[in-house]
Amino acid sequence: MSFLPPRALILAPMVELSHVALRDLIASFGGCDRYSTEMSGAAAYVAGAPWDRWFLDTTPEPGLTSVQFFAPDAPTLAQAIAKLRRELAAAGLPFGGVDLNFGCAAPQIEKAGGGVSWMKDPEGAAALVATARSLLPDEPLSCKLRLGYEESAPGLVSFCRGLADAGADWLTLHPRLRHEKFRRTGKWAYVGLLSGELDIPVIGNGDVRDLASFRAAVDGQGAGGVMIGREAVRRPWIFALLRGQDGDPAFSMIVDVLKTGMDFLDLLKRRLPPEFHLSRARRFFFYYCDNLSFGHHLRFAIQNAPDLDTIERLFLSYFEQVPAERVQKQA
Ligand SMILES: Cc1cc2nc3c(=O)[nH]c(=O)nc-3n(C[C@H](O)[C@H](O)[C@H](O)COP(=O)(O)O)c2cc1C
Repeated sequence: MSFLPPRALILAPMVELSHVALRDLIASFGGCDRYSTEMSGAAAYVAGAPWDRWFLDTTPEPGLTSVQFFAPDAPTLAQAIAKLRRELAAAGLPFGGVDLNFGCAAPQIEKAGGGVSWMKDPEGAAALVATARSLLPDEPLSCKLRLGYEESAPGLVSFCRGLADAGADWLTLHPRLRHEKFRRTGKWAYVGLLSGELDIPVIGNGDVRDLASFRAAVDGQGAGGVMIGREAVRRPWIFALLRGQDGDPAFSMIVDVLKTGMDFLDLLKRRLPPEFHLSRARRFFFYYCDNLSFGHHLRFAIQNAPDLDTIERLFLSYFEQVPAERVQKQA
């Protein structure tokens, strides 16, 4: 079953960023084709971790939002999927799908046998996908990965073929090695290689920021679409802009940078618990300040602000000083 339109635009899973407030903000610009939650540990979720209600919130587009899990083993993942199905049904929401994290290299996750550590165990990873597939006969199932521990084209193709044969609907590749974080340019030829080798869509991820990088992924490498992370925080309108420009490269948008930032703060307050407000606002403005010429000063002040009211005041006062930056043409 194909769950992705051609040239798909997907929001990346990002801890403390890909929450309901950001998805709401993106939806206010027309949205994207699919969304992701931030990652959740399958084991913690099964054990009833306190904040999972917010981590696993799939609104405002529950039918289009994949919950991303990292899982140490297949039985735990199976329990997590069963619990998620029960909870979504109880809330009367559609089950938008599951994304399996095979890329995270955070030490505590790798040590617990989740994320990138699965790349050392191709059969185990394929079995994990097969387990999820058996529990998700009609819902989207995808996997997200990096290049792994070392560069090996045959190793990568064989690992990904195992995931595809086990039933993944699509794969997302962020073509950097485990240890590369965001250093160096992504090795996008691997997206092209996988797209040619696999019968399922391969989504490219990493540094997609504009029409040129979108087209390089889709037309240059044959990707089924792109997943966008940080640029969707910097410019929550990026999906609308790309969609417009892909049809007509001269397409442009006028955005109110002040209003969008204030809308975000309002969504944060309304949609997430107070315990999340400060950390999530800091994370968001870390990227969003890139829209402003003196954004580095504002970013620094926001990172050190003690509460949300101060952040709001700092943000508003920026535009009192630089009013010309409030409304910007995006092309
Ligand atoms: C703050 C932050 C948190 C992230 N959290 C996750 C996560 O929970 N799961 C995941 O698979 N990738 C995570 N990533 C990686 C992104 O999904 C994405 O692969 C990466 O940012 C590259 O895409 P970009 O260049 O469009 O940002 C995170 C990245 C950032 C910057």
